[in-house]
Amino acid sequence: MQKRVIVTGVAGFVGSNLAKHLLDRGYSVVGIDNLSAGTLENVDPRVDFNKLDIRDPDIYPLVQGADAVFHLAAMSCLTDCIARPLEAAGVNTVGTLNVLEAARRANVGKFVYADTSAEYGGVDKYPTPEDEVLPVGVYAASKHGGAAFCESYRELYGLNLTTARYFNVYGPAQDWRRVLPPVMSAFILRMLRGERPIIYGTGEKRRDFIYVDDVNDFHLTLLEDPRSNGRVFNVGTGVNFSVNEIYQLIEEVLQTALEPIYKPDLPGEAQVTLADITAARELGWQPKVDIHEGLRRSIQYIRERVLQAVENSDV
Ligand SMILES: NC(=O)c1ccc[n+]([C@@H]2O[C@H](COP(=O)([O-])OP(=O)(O)OC[C@H]3O[C@@H](n4cnc5c(N)ncnc54)[C@H](O)[C@@H]3O)[C@@H](O)[C@H]2O)c1
Repeated sequence: MQKRVIVTGVAGFVGSNLAKHLLDRGYSVVGIDNLSAGTLENVDPRVDFNKLDIRDPDIYPLVQGADAVFHLAAMSCLTDCIARPLEAAGVNTVGTLNVLEAARRANVGKFVYADTSAEYGGVDKYPTPEDEVLPVGVYAASKHGGAAFCESYRELYGLNLTTARYFNVYGPAQDWRRVLPPVMSAFILRMLRGERPIIYGTGEKRRDFIYVDDVNDFHLTLLEDPRSNGRVFNVGTGVNFSVNEIYQLIEEVLQTALEPIYKPDLPGEAQVTLADITAARELGWQPKVDIHEGLRRSIQYIRERVLQAVENSDV
């Protein structure tokens, strides 16, 4: 029988791509999202979509009978989290608790939590292994709260839980509508529109960027390989690039001659992220899309799918 998988945050960047991966693999997908950040146009029509808040007990009946839950819904914009910390904790910590409770009541066979490399904000060991976290900042602390409840549900209720700790994910459907969009989308979009990209700080912060399809290949591994049960995995590439280097790589493709504008640094961001992906590799997974190919695909998507929408919405 077709396995039924719940994806929270299904209208968002990673969740919408994950749903397509699962559907293409033959799973049926029940999606939950309150559309606070995601959009319906991201959602594959094959998804059984439910506009619900993860904090709402109405999610319980949906989770009944599900084989697995991927919990991705979150307040994921750092600036929103800083502006509204109580809401960030409400969604990312208490909302996660409610999804865990739904999974416990439904006796779900597998639960995957989308954690973040922001958990390593105060750790300065590179490449960073999974075993030590020191979250700094509201977003990191609120995701850490969710992760802590995951751990207690694993320990106390025997929930079969796996944590995927993503580094900087990029690719199609990345949210360009934010006031401060993620760096890839922001640069590509501005440069395609003939505008100079904006770099906050010196541009020397380094990030481990991972293409979204690689993340979702790994999600399938987590679902199908029982060796992942009860464990935490970094999901990155083990290679990092500075923001200035990303600008250069995009400029090499687009040839705009637009120089970046440097603005004051944003608070609460780590100088360096770099994943130790030994554990993920041991499951037989490895990232396949390198930065050149990933940027090429991202540029193509923004050119074909986003530019017109931006013109229409007059962003
Ligand atoms: N994108 C990255 O680089 C990255 C890195 C590390 C971790 N993560 C984690 O991965 C997950 C997905 O991130 P993303 O980049 O796709 O973010 P996103 O903002 O694109 O997607 C999050 C989705 O959750 C939904 N949502 C927010 N609050 C909700 C609520 N109360 N009830 C129901 N739905 C709600 C939003 O509408 C949105 O569609 C998040 O948990 C995030 O913390 C992302």
